[in-house]
Amino acid sequence: MSEQDTDNPSDSKSHPSDSFRTRAIHVGNDVDPATGAVIPPVHFASTFKQPAAGEWGEFDYSRSGNPTRSQMQTTLASLEGGIGALAFSSGMAAIHCVTMMLKSGDHVVAGCDLYGGAYRLLHKVCNRSGIDVTLVDMTDASAVESAIRENTRLVWAETIGNPRLTIPDLPRLAEIAHSRDVLIGVDNTFGTPVLVRPLEYGIDIVMHSATKYLGGHSDCLGGTLAVADQSLLDELYYLQNATGAVLDPLTCFLVARGLKTLDLRVRAQSSTALELAKWLQDHPRVSNVLYPGLESHPEHQRASQLFDGGYGGMVTFELDGSIEQTAKVCGATRLFRLAVSLGAVESLIEQPATMSHASYDAEDRNRFGISDGLIRLSVGLESLDDLKDDLEQAISKS
Ligand SMILES: Cc1ncc(COP(=O)(O)O)c(C=O)c1O
Repeated sequence: MSEQDTDNPSDSKSHPSDSFRTRAIHVGNDVDPATGAVIPPVHFASTFKQPAAGEWGEFDYSRSGNPTRSQMQTTLASLEGGIGALAFSSGMAAIHCVTMMLKSGDHVVAGCDLYGGAYRLLHKVCNRSGIDVTLVDMTDASAVESAIRENTRLVWAETIGNPRLTIPDLPRLAEIAHSRDVLIGVDNTFGTPVLVRPLEYGIDIVMHSATKYLGGHSDCLGGTLAVADQSLLDELYYLQNATGAVLDPLTCFLVARGLKTLDLRVRAQSSTALELAKWLQDHPRVSNVLYPGLESHPEHQRASQLFDGGYGGMVTFELDGSIEQTAKVCGATRLFRLAVSLGAVESLIEQPATMSHASYDAEDRNRFGISDGLIRLSVGLESLDDLKDDLEQAISKS
């Protein structure tokens, strides 16, 4: 270590009192001891030299462990308040890893306001292995309690439901699940650890599609799990290593870079989203706005209690009109790009019924309020006035 380095012994070491923003930049981002580079190098090596035959170093083979992946996992675990995290090739691979803990005959209680891909995995893939799924309104804790059976092994919810932006009572759900010896996992993709850290509320597993806010720039695909318990981490790691859906080093680097600005981005997006939601609420063509920051949202009080200074960058609203008129609005925006996905610097617009939630059975879409008139916005970092003007001109064309 050079003299200069020893002058700053705690240069990139975490300190327990460091804030979220500081940890996002420093934890897992140690200065490279070989060169002094302030950004750790990306390790593309697929294999690592062993000390001797039959002896293992910290890394041996990149599926089992990679320094760049470890660094990003360390940062994320710190931000979620966990003891460890795992990075996967996609958000779906991360959820799949959780479901691999289940076996034939097990039962899952899942939210009825779930990302369409999670619905598909549970209902159309896991069911082939004899795993039974019940969808419940996660905002209704007593309905969750009643849905738990003898063979229930997992409760799965989203911290902000998709697309109706419902907010479950996380501490209560954790209490219910644990009282019945059931594991509880949540998808925190919409919430982000900036706004809500479910492990603090007793949740066992926190999942992200890192493709979204963590990466933040619509340029990478990844998923993560974070946990607060070593034996759970060991089991999930075992399953991940055994099946192989790990995140590649370059994408780990992109996600790690995204994490450094996560707090700034999410707070700015949340504040623009709140203003847009208020504006939409007063719009004559809009029949309903679902945004947890609005007092009219059924779980506004709960979101205010559980969330840390914002309500997220996602806004869902309903137009008075047909599925064709809704599609027309989605296709008429200039700045909001018509695309699935979310959480990036550019704003996106989509029609859940035909896009993100197309894999729901039509009957379930009707049952769970994913109506034809629903439009979901992912609010980016453009200026509020430009976004309002864009929506106004698009709505006026339908
Ligand atoms: C809330 C949520 N969870 C999970 C996923 C799946 O993540 P990925 O697309 O990275 O596999 C998505 C993707 O849109 C999502 O929106």
